Amino acid sequence: MSRSIRLAVIPGDGIGQEVVAEGLKVLGAVLPAGTKVETTEYDLGARRWHATGETLPDSVLEELKGHDAILLGAVGDPSVPSGVLERGLLLKLRFAFDHHVNLRPGKLFPGVKSPLAGEPEIDFVVVREGTEGPYVGNGGTLRTGTPQEVATEVSLNTAFGIERVVRDAYRRAAARPRKKLTLVHKNNVLVHAGHLWTRIFERVGQEFPEVTTDYLHVDAATIFLVTQPQRFDVIVTDNLFGDILTDLAAAVTGGIGLAASGNINPSGEFPSMFEPVHGSAPDIAGQGKADPTATVLSVAMLLEHLGLTAEAARIEAAVAADLAERVDGPARSTSQIGDALVTRVAG
Ligand code: NAI
Ligand code: MG
Repeated sequence: MSRSIRLAVIPGDGIGQEVVAEGLKVLGAVLPAGTKVETTEYDLGARRWHATGETLPDSVLEELKGHDAILLGAVGDPSVPSGVLERGLLLKLRFAFDHHVNLRPGKLFPGVKSPLAGEPEIDFVVVREGTEGPYVGNGGTLRTGTPQEVATEVSLNTAFGIERVVRDAYRRAAARPRKKLTLVHKNNVLVHAGHLWTRIFERVGQEFPEVTTDYLHVDAATIFLVTQPQRFDVIVTDNLFGDILTDLAAAVTGGIGLAASGNINPSGEFPSMFEPVHGSAPDIAGQGKADPTATVLSVAMLLEHLGLTAEAARIEAAVAADLAERVDGPARSTSQIGDALVTRVAG
């Protein structure tokens, strides 16, 4: 059967450009004969903002809707005020396309050095809510710039929003061998949102008797991610806790150069977006030093999302084999790692 994937590509800034090029190389090499990928590249990020003042024009948002998926590198630069691209581009995309499931696997591949002692087995996935919580922009300031300044940043939690992400997390847990789901929140202090999350978590759990459940306060979760990461299988949590926990997860599984993510719209109403967790890394941009592995693993998540499960598995196996051989090997450039992965998925 011939098939074509319409892929929107947003390389973005800094190393985003470098790692996306490698991700596309591997994508091209892994697709079966008869499956084509039609890419449309969008120039968004710091460069565009400096040139035109635009972050995400409505016309681009409309065009993006016509794609099966989006691959994003990273956006951001020290020359752009903090918040402009995060809110005006990344969050705008996640909200406009209702990316309510933010998926972030935390897996320690064999041969990868974790800063944790004793080479623990780490293989979990964080399902972070992506469209609510404190990230909705519900707040403001009064008496701005005066000593009496007041700022609010309200965390928005809806029963609808919680239920859909919790159910998605249960489904993912039910499909994994260990079938375990941990809710992470802070329901002893954030009692309003916390109790709503907890009640919905318990209620939806009745539909999944095969899934073992667990609850941790977010502060305790940071301890266990370091001391007993093997206890986690699937974690479901709110937008802010998920943001922080997944950086910690990246750190204990070999670093930000390996951490992949998907911003998923499970209904398929709008395209889902896949991206490395890391940013544009201005400190190493343009030097061929960036590790493209996180982007390549994000491409695997993209294929999995589009139902190309075997191809996704081939990429993951290629990455695992490459990582296992890296241990004592010489340092390689961004494109050398990409080429090695291309050879593995093609062979
Ligand atoms: P960062 O992730 O860009 O860099 C943090 C550190 O990790 C740096 O030392 C960098 O060299 C290193 N690093 C990151 N990716 C790497 C890779 N693939 N291989 C090797 N080393 C890597 O985070 P930072 O420095 O906080 O942010 C830089 C810019 O990126 C900022 O403008 C920030 O707003 C933006 N950013 C964008 C994100 C996105 O587009 N989704 C996510 C995070 C940050
Ligand atoms: Mg983050």
